[in-house]
Amino acid sequence: KSVMIELPPLPYAQDALAPHISKETLSFHYGKHHKGYVDKANGMLEGSDLATLDLVPLIRKVAGDASRKGLFNNAAQIWNHDFYWHSMSPGGGGKPTGALADKIASDFGSFEAFTKTFKEAGAGQFGSGYCWLVLGPDGKLKVYGTANAETPIADTRDTPILTTDVWEHTYYLDYQNRRPDYLDAFLENLVNWEFAAANFEKANLQTA
Ligand code: FE2
Repeated sequence: KSVMIELPPLPYAQDALAPHISKETLSFHYGKHHKGYVDKANGMLEGSDLATLDLVPLIRKVAGDASRKGLFNNAAQIWNHDFYWHSMSPGGGGKPTGALADKIASDFGSFEAFTKTFKEAGAGQFGSGYCWLVLGPDGKLKVYGTANAETPIADTRDTPILTTDVWEHTYYLDYQNRRPDYLDAFLENLVNWEFAAANFEKANLQTA
């Protein structure tokens, strides 16, 4: 087949997150960066027996294999970006409700303590990467940053609940070097708690 991995659709219009993320940023980030990872991964998969794998099994198959680092980076970036787009919604922000809200309060102390931890991890992630909220195998929520294309989906230990991209291409056109301002906007105006709650519910069902 000619198309091995398809660029997943953006779940909203390219101007839907403005003014917090401009149409210009989203059109570059989705149309150039995300698409670029798809094109590069497909180029590397051309003629490979790995081309039959779905995206997550592919990422897990090549994770940790130094000779396939380029394929890992591009495949992981495809998954990470799709998860990031869904971690935001037009009119997002605010606070979670229901079971996820209770769990955040119990594992972090309070919602405010969670946002502080999340912002510190995002702002403190040196260079390019992501900031994640995950459910660990011990049944606890935790927050951490990962470098470059690294992703919790590369193994089965932690289940991703929410992420934000902290590569400069995410925020530079709108916030220049002010990553903390971008993280404030993400938490206050963009984060999609319904998506996070659905991921949390699914993760609970799997471990129950
Ligand atoms: Fe990105």
